[in-house]
Amino acid sequence: MPDVLTILTQRCSDALRRAFGEAHAHIDPLIRASANPSGKQFGDYQVNLAMSLAKVIGQKPRDVAEKIVTAFDWQGVCEEAPTIAGPGFINLRLARPLLEAQLADMAGDERLGVPTATHAETVVVDYSGPNVAKEMHIGHFRATVIGDALARVLEFQGHQVIRQNHLGDWGTQFGMLIEHLVEVESSTGKALDKLPIADLNELYRAAKKRFDEDAGFADRARKRVVALQAGDEKTLRLWRYLIDESKRHFNAAYQRLGIKLTDADVRAESFYNPLLPDVADELESSKLAVHSDGALCVFPPGYQAEDGRPVPVMVRKSDGGYGYDATDLAALRFRIRKLGATRIVYVTDSRQKQHFAMVFAVAKMAGWLDDTHRAEHVAFGTILGEDGKPFKSRSGDTVKLADLLDEARVRAIAVIARKNSDTTEAQRETIASAIGIGAIKYADLSSDRIKDYVFNWDRMLSFDGNTAPYLINAYVRIKSIFRKAGTQTGSGGEGLPQRVEAVPTLIVADSAERALALKLLQYASVIESVAQSLEPHRLCTFLYELASLFHQFYEKCPVLTAPDAATRDARLALCNLVASTLKHGLDLLGIQVIEQM
Ligand code: ARG
Repeated sequence: MPDVLTILTQRCSDALRRAFGEAHAHIDPLIRASANPSGKQFGDYQVNLAMSLAKVIGQKPRDVAEKIVTAFDWQGVCEEAPTIAGPGFINLRLARPLLEAQLADMAGDERLGVPTATHAETVVVDYSGPNVAKEMHIGHFRATVIGDALARVLEFQGHQVIRQNHLGDWGTQFGMLIEHLVEVESSTGKALDKLPIADLNELYRAAKKRFDEDAGFADRARKRVVALQAGDEKTLRLWRYLIDESKRHFNAAYQRLGIKLTDADVRAESFYNPLLPDVADELESSKLAVHSDGALCVFPPGYQAEDGRPVPVMVRKSDGGYGYDATDLAALRFRIRKLGATRIVYVTDSRQKQHFAMVFAVAKMAGWLDDTHRAEHVAFGTILGEDGKPFKSRSGDTVKLADLLDEARVRAIAVIARKNSDTTEAQRETIASAIGIGAIKYADLSSDRIKDYVFNWDRMLSFDGNTAPYLINAYVRIKSIFRKAGTQTGSGGEGLPQRVEAVPTLIVADSAERALALKLLQYASVIESVAQSLEPHRLCTFLYELASLFHQFYEKCPVLTAPDAATRDARLALCNLVASTLKHGLDLLGIQVIEQM
């Protein structure tokens, strides 16, 4: 059966045709699910086009709304004739049989009613992007978690998602790092290749210290950059060692966080080195790039520094080297021409906003990006400490991701122990890892990404409010209903229906059931809106509302002690659908549920 929106849209266009003729039958009726479904005054869905249509045809909005309502065939779809509110909002209250049939469809569908995209695209999601020889910090945490959720959502819609981890593995700092390693090797007489780097930051600090304090070293470090660029074998060997060791650290973090990135998704900055001269040539021969103080630059219109001087995109620096701008130009061209991407999504903090805007502007000027492509910067704000300043560790350093994850585990264990003291240590470990990791990921995903947010352990680990523990707990509660149902009927005991086989008729009689049903039916449109806006918090808000409505339902409508068997089965089926949706939605966010707590 078509989904609710399709059915209502069809009825609307029939009404428009009857009331205003064929010419107006195909305008978008702007139907939205009400924020407050089942509340009598708003209806379940609203048709919002009367206001805009009124302008077009020169009539009063209220009159237009009345004509639509009169022409609207509501039988079989709505419970009653549509009503009009305010300047011309049309409220629809869905008929119970339609709601029940829709729910049954959703319950019987593995995709929970979410359609696959009609136009599948090749989408590049550029996320995480940590830098070699530096520990991942909290900024990369956001880039990693948000990017991973978006990649999962787009993939679920049926797009071909190409994950690209734009590792920072190139730049002048490698001269310093490698020179340091060379000298460690010669003073210890040991080849470093097999030695694990315990702490990347430590290494970086040591090299930097020598660079700053020892002029001779600084000089050798600069020569080392030249050797690296020239492909000197000894230099390359240590460079690769740095990369491998760094990847080992990054992969460990991805693993703990449940991030889907693998080595196959790494396309580091250095990958583009061989392509850079050609990018420069192309931009120069098309007269977009000009020489400016020895450098090769493009000045896309509209970008000025505070003093009014135009800001360049640096294609080639005056020393002949290429930097971050050039690499991103090459990467964008590669993604369009070689990977065939039509949508390219970059997840980084909002300080890089201008960088990407300018790279996109140049790509448009060069004709790489046109109307058939979308390049989007998914920008995010800063994580703040309680003091409102960027989140720092107690020693005042930027917070290392690995430390953050350790602390999440320890704190989650404490929370679990307080909540339920008869868990064994092993159980507590599993629960804590789901709750702890889930909590920090969810805290990040659930806040509007563009805004800064305050990092607060107590809040994110709380079992109340819009948090991962709250959602996971809702899931666990439903699972325990099923365990009890199994023991009571004696029909299977433990290991009970994950999904109720042969979905029983769903009944939507009580207002709490109705509110829950209407929320469930919004799942598909929520997924679509996340995919369009690239805002994972919309899915979080949905899941939170779903779980809250579930709790209201559960308070009001007894499940296991329902008045009769049919009601009981129907309510169990509704519970089951809520559980499946929670689990599915959390999975799209990259958060795992547990079955028991
Ligand atoms: N390595 C960069 C950083 O740490 C992020 C890379 C983002 N992706 C890109 N194509 N520039 O800020």
